[in-house]
Amino acid sequence: MRVLILTGAGISAESGVPTFRDADGLWEGHSFEEVATPEAFARDPDTVQRFYDARRAALAGVEPNPAHQALARLEEALGEDLLIVTQNVDDLHERAGSTRVLHMHGALTSALCGSCEQRHPWAEPLLHRPSCPGCGQAALRPDVVWFGELPYEMERVFEVLERTDLFVAIGTSGAVYPAAGFVRIAVTYGARTLELNLERTESSEYFDSARQGPASELVPAWVEEMLS
Ligand code: APR
Repeated sequence: MRVLILTGAGISAESGVPTFRDADGLWEGHSFEEVATPEAFARDPDTVQRFYDARRAALAGVEPNPAHQALARLEEALGEDLLIVTQNVDDLHERAGSTRVLHMHGALTSALCGSCEQRHPWAEPLLHRPSCPGCGQAALRPDVVWFGELPYEMERVFEVLERTDLFVAIGTSGAVYPAAGFVRIAVTYGARTLELNLERTESSEYFDSARQGPASELVPAWVEEMLS
């Protein structure tokens, strides 16, 4: 069985990584417009760099939770028949042991050069304008896909969606496209679909089945079902 898993901020919430759409509509005290658009970066690069530097530094203080770990166990069983497409920019899937992970919204563990457009593994702050290891320009920015930019590797995701047997969305509000549209594409190509989320979402109605609860409980339980 070929399985495609889409994950969002909810899978990392119990590890202590804040989700995006909190009750006050702010993301760690900022609106999206202040920190997650190319316009914001052009207008006030220091605020944007500081924001993502803090998020990158915070990765050192969080650990994968049982949901990430369960997906790594599923990969051990399914191998190449499993692909995780994550909207998350944290590295908790990899640290849990998953290797087949595609970061469609980029990663905090890399930097993108605004000059030569190369991506480089990165662990340090960017605020002090370090030089790009590729071209030497002081043009590095967070390797994060902002609103108005194209997500990474969409062609590959759409190819996999066409031939997947089971599509599972975990911990995502289904509010941001193109990821929010994956379930309908999967259905069109004949996949079964399952949503695992703390609460019902605006996409729940498109899934064959939607289970509500914390990811740290729902995901290991579902993986056990898959493995048994
Ligand atoms: N277990 C399961 N689900 C949870 C948990 C939990 N412990 N905690 C929260 N959730 C759910 C919330 O109910 C919500 O539906 O996770 C979802 C998180 O939604 P968002 O904060 O909108 O995150 P996400 O869907 O990943 O956002 C998509 O939006 O801002 C952009 O680029 C950013 O990748 C992000 C994209």
